[in-house]
Amino acid sequence: MKKTVLKFLMKLGLYPHIRFTYSPFKIVEFGEMVERAKFRGDERALDIGCGDGLQTFLFGQHVDHITGIDVNSSFIADARSYATSYTHKANADFEDSPLEKIGYPANHFDLIFSVCVIEHIDNHEEVLRECLRIMKPGARIIFTVDTLETIDDKALLEKHRAAHHVVRYFRKDTLAELLTEMGFEVLETQNLFRSELARKLFVQGINEGFNFGRLRCTSLARELAAAEAETALDAPGTFLLAVARKPES
Ligand SMILES: C[S@@+](CC[C@H](N)C(=O)[O-])C[C@H]1O[C@@H](n2cnc3c(N)ncnc32)[C@H](O)[C@@H]1O
Repeated sequence: MKKTVLKFLMKLGLYPHIRFTYSPFKIVEFGEMVERAKFRGDERALDIGCGDGLQTFLFGQHVDHITGIDVNSSFIADARSYATSYTHKANADFEDSPLEKIGYPANHFDLIFSVCVIEHIDNHEEVLRECLRIMKPGARIIFTVDTLETIDDKALLEKHRAAHHVVRYFRKDTLAELLTEMGFEVLETQNLFRSELARKLFVQGINEGFNFGRLRCTSLARELAAAEAETALDAPGTFLLAVARKPES
C-alpha cells in the first residue's frame, strides 16, 4: 500500500494494525509479547531491529516513549516519516544505527523489545550485554528469535537461513544459560509455534513467502493460536520467546 495512504490511515488511527503484516506468525507472536509486557504506561522503551516501525508504533501506544532502532536506514527513513502522522497515538523516535554504537546512558530503559532480530546479528552477545547496561535495575527485555526446531529438512533450513540472513538459530536451554551468564535474571523462555499447523504453514512460508494474504491472515492467526493452545508447552518450537530482567542490585 502507498505510503501516503498509510499516513492518512495513521492520522485516522486505523493504521498500524498488527494484521497489516500479512503473516499469521507475526500476529500471534506480537500478541504473546504484549501479553508479557504488563505495561504500566510510563515506560521508556526500546525496540531493537524495528524495521519500518510497525510494531514500534503498536508497542508505543502503551508506553510513555519508545525508540526504534535498525541498521537499515531506508526502513528508518520510512518509520520517521510515519511517526509524523502518529504523534496522537505514540511518542516514538527512530535511530539508524547498531545499538552498541549509540551509547545510551546506563540504566536508561524500562522495557526493551526485539522481534526476530537477535538471530540476524553477528555480535549478538555484545548487543545483549549493551541491553543489560542500558536497562534500569528491574527493567525487562522481551524478545523473540528463530529456532526452527520443528523443521527437520536440512535443505529447507538452509533455504530459510540464506533467504533471511540468519546467523544462528537459538535453543531454549542455551539461550537461558547465555542470558544467565551475562547477568540477566531469566523470567521465561518459551518455544512458540510448536503445533503441526505451525510447522506446515512455516514450510509453506519458506517455500512460497510469508505473505499469507491480508484476509486469510487473520483467520489463520486464530487457527494458529488455537493449535498452539492444544500443543504441549515443552514441545520444540519454530520461534523462541525470552523474558529477562536486570537484577535490582
Ligand atoms: C527479520 S527483520 C524483523 C523486523 C521486525 N522486528 C519484525 O519482526 O517484523 C530483522 C530486522 O533486524 C534488523 N537488524 C539486523 N541487524 C541489526 C542490528 N545489528 N541492529 C539493529 N537492527 C538490526 C534488520 O535490518 C531487519 O529490519
